[in-house]
Amino acid sequence: MRVLVTGGSGFVGRRLCERLMASGHEVLVISRDPDRARERLPAGVCLETAILNAIEWRPEAIVNLAGEPIADKRWSESQKQRLIESRVNITRDLVMLCRHMPTPPSVMVSGSAMGYYGDQGSREVSERTPPHDEFAHRLCERWENAAREVEECGVRLVILRIGLVLGPNGGTLSRLLLPFKLGLGGRLGNGRQFMPWIHREDLVSAIEFLLVNEGLAGPFNGSAPHPVTNAEFTKLLAKRLNRPAVLAVPAPLLKLGLGEMSRLLLTGADMRPARLQAAGFDFRFPTADTALADILG
Ligand SMILES: NC(=O)c1ccc[n+]([C@@H]2O[C@H](COP(=O)([O-])OP(=O)(O)OC[C@H]3O[C@@H](n4cnc5c(N)ncnc54)[C@H](OP(=O)(O)O)[C@@H]3O)[C@@H](O)[C@H]2O)c1
Repeated sequence: MRVLVTGGSGFVGRRLCERLMASGHEVLVISRDPDRARERLPAGVCLETAILNAIEWRPEAIVNLAGEPIADKRWSESQKQRLIESRVNITRDLVMLCRHMPTPPSVMVSGSAMGYYGDQGSREVSERTPPHDEFAHRLCERWENAAREVEECGVRLVILRIGLVLGPNGGTLSRLLLPFKLGLGGRLGNGRQFMPWIHREDLVSAIEFLLVNEGLAGPFNGSAPHPVTNAEFTKLLAKRLNRPAVLAVPAPLLKLGLGEMSRLLLTGADMRPARLQAAGFDFRFPTADTALADILG
């Protein structure tokens, strides 16, 4: 299959491209910086800067992962705009590409995030749970709505609401390791907020599963079946690293330092992959302990 990937140079996309290539697919990555992307991607991956240039390549499937990183900068009004526009504009270009193709791709797996649901307290969350209105929700809603237009071209659309992705060499876990290794790790706020997470290998397998299962469409939660609270995750990580985690970072300090972005750390949703499981998807790493054991050894 010829698969076009946006965000292919990123933490998830890199591994996705490696796995797609290893399975014999052809891969075209859209990147703002193809030279840098080339260094991160396996040999044989094609690169383009503009989505509309992909028309000649005739993609049969699309995976849409590109977007300004959510937690790199404080959420000023201009940064919020950047977070939205980086995703919506790329997604609109993909819709335009499909409109221009005589035979559009059969499927698009388009990214979204657990943030779609906003703060849900301790309620169990499936794909049917109504969202809580806040910035993270509005960002994901705009991203998802932009993707929905592709259905008018007859493209099967799958929206993947991704949890915190755990994997080696990058992502959030790499940022957490240093304080924990120094014995400075600790729960955030009261630690009761849920952290839906997924091992990167399972996320890539879920994307492959959704690409090929022709009966599947609509929103899917992309997280492991056993989410943990922040306090539980903190304990597991400290145990795995053989370090103490007795400290706690007070919520007011995080709010002061990070502003509205602190909601990423202090709130969450007990998100469950109800539809992936109903479709028969098998998680290799269902619990955070098994995932951390695999990643950290
Ligand atoms: N990792 C997680 O824990 C997690 C959790 C929930 C949702 N997600 C979502 O899943 C997607 C993939 O995650 P990831 O961790 O692989 O992301 P990532 O490592 O930050 O990579 C995203 C890619 O998007 C492109 N990009 C970055 N800023 C951009 C901008 N301003 N405009 C256009 N393109 C831009 C970059 O590609 P080029 O530089 O090559 O153009 C980058 O490689 C993201 O959209 C993210 O929001 C991730």
